[in-house]
Amino acid sequence: MTSTYVTTPIYYVNAEPPLGLAYTTIFGDALTRWARLMGDDVYYLTGTDEHGLKIQQSAEAAGVTPQEITDGIAPKFAAAWERLNIANDDFIRTTEQRHKDAVAELLQRCYDAGDIELDTFAGKYCVACEEYYQDDELVEIDGTPDCCPTHQRPVEYFEEENYFFRLSRFEDRLLDYYAAHPGALTPEHRGNEALGLIRSGLRDFSISRTSLEWGIPLPWDADHVTYVWFDALTNYLAAIGFGDDSKDYARWWPATHLIGKDIVRQHCVYWPAMLMSAGIELPARWAIGGWLLVGGEKMSKTSGNVVNPLDLIDDIGVDGFRYYVLADTAYGNDGDFSYEGLVGRYNADLANNLGNLAARVATVVAKKCDGVGSAPSPDSALAEAAATAVADSTAGWADVQPSRALDATWGLIRATNAYLEQNEPWKADPGAEVDAVMGDALEALRIIAILVSPAVPDTAQAVWERIGMAGAVADQRLPDAATWGGYAAGSAVTKGDPLFPRIS
Ligand code: MSP
Repeated sequence: MTSTYVTTPIYYVNAEPPLGLAYTTIFGDALTRWARLMGDDVYYLTGTDEHGLKIQQSAEAAGVTPQEITDGIAPKFAAAWERLNIANDDFIRTTEQRHKDAVAELLQRCYDAGDIELDTFAGKYCVACEEYYQDDELVEIDGTPDCCPTHQRPVEYFEEENYFFRLSRFEDRLLDYYAAHPGALTPEHRGNEALGLIRSGLRDFSISRTSLEWGIPLPWDADHVTYVWFDALTNYLAAIGFGDDSKDYARWWPATHLIGKDIVRQHCVYWPAMLMSAGIELPARWAIGGWLLVGGEKMSKTSGNVVNPLDLIDDIGVDGFRYYVLADTAYGNDGDFSYEGLVGRYNADLANNLGNLAARVATVVAKKCDGVGSAPSPDSALAEAAATAVADSTAGWADVQPSRALDATWGLIRATNAYLEQNEPWKADPGAEVDAVMGDALEALRIIAILVSPAVPDTAQAVWERIGMAGAVADQRLPDAATWGGYAAGSAVTKGDPLFPRIS
């Protein structure tokens, strides 16, 4: 059995989850639901990144402990993911003991390998991204020099003795690795950005602070706590029991990492070098996503354009929202969020296509077939459309391109609606001909329910039940379950409420 271990970035807990963070989490959820349909052994991980200067400073300002801040916010992430029907298998917090143990183990291994050394560092540091910057990387914003290019705010000057990870030693090894593993970085245009970072030369990076208290101490020098990225990245190993022989680490590693384009350097350059140093197999794949923009800008608290996903689902439903996120933008590209775009897609694809198909099939079966479904014809014109949709959806999900996969699935929805319009069973008298047409439509709908289930799990289950299929659609296994002819003739078909009422 193929094992599939998918991770999201672990999220900073300085605010409640905005829409941008739901974006990656929904992709990971859909991807792992698809992998389950394919019969893979699946583990889906998300969590929170809780150490660092930012939290320490917020805690000082609020007069509370950093732990109190993170204990207050981490559960809000878990609750938001539950509300969005995210089926994660685990939720890791970097303040957990299992995480601290794994970080200590990884640090020790890199130290023992001679790749971590003490040095003095002076430089400009962005607290928001927990990253040192060179002068030529900084930008001027509204007359203020030395601003972080990502956060658009001034960096701070730091000077201290730090331990350094000798990243500069890994340049060739990283390039050789990626050359030998084509497709490991996806999509290709984002992967090329990562390769460009390596080719432009690698500098050693600082992995510890003495000025920071809120972090994990270095196992060999307790005056230092580890720098945020060395800490954060290790979550991917910690959750599956790295360093703990009683756990299932070997069953799951290596991972597919879903990441945003802003954390490519840390994931595609630092992380594999750290793993090489520690003698650990590299991740299976890095799937690099773009950002969800609002009016062309990244959502941020300072721009005041943060959208809370939980506000949107009151209007659009959880599945409406999930579908929009997955279908609207090719993974890797930036998406542009607008309420009009969301409603437009909802009405066109969900209300008019999928919702309408399910409703009209149930209505005709009730009126013309006594509410009972017939067997599909083996040589139905829809059989080929179904086979194409299954093959193309499978390829789309395999390439981490849900928008392509869903477009292929919607091809079958459109073909089935067209088939009904062509045959007009609602105009015909009850009899064998109508039964045959409706048997084909029910079979198409059965396959559609399976194919849409990673994106819109509740809707898929509702369709499954309404056409009279037993059990859980999520328990179906591809490709067998999507072979034409699986609809059980004689099943009771029910109508139910509209799946996606139109929004005006
Ligand atoms: N804590 C680090 C990641 C550590 S992973 C070992 C971090 N956290 S974050 O909360 O700031 O962002 C996490 C991810 O969310 C990043 O990949 C970032 O690109 C993504 N997004 C944040 N806002 C986003 C959008 N508006 N759109 C899409 N993704 C966005 O970085």
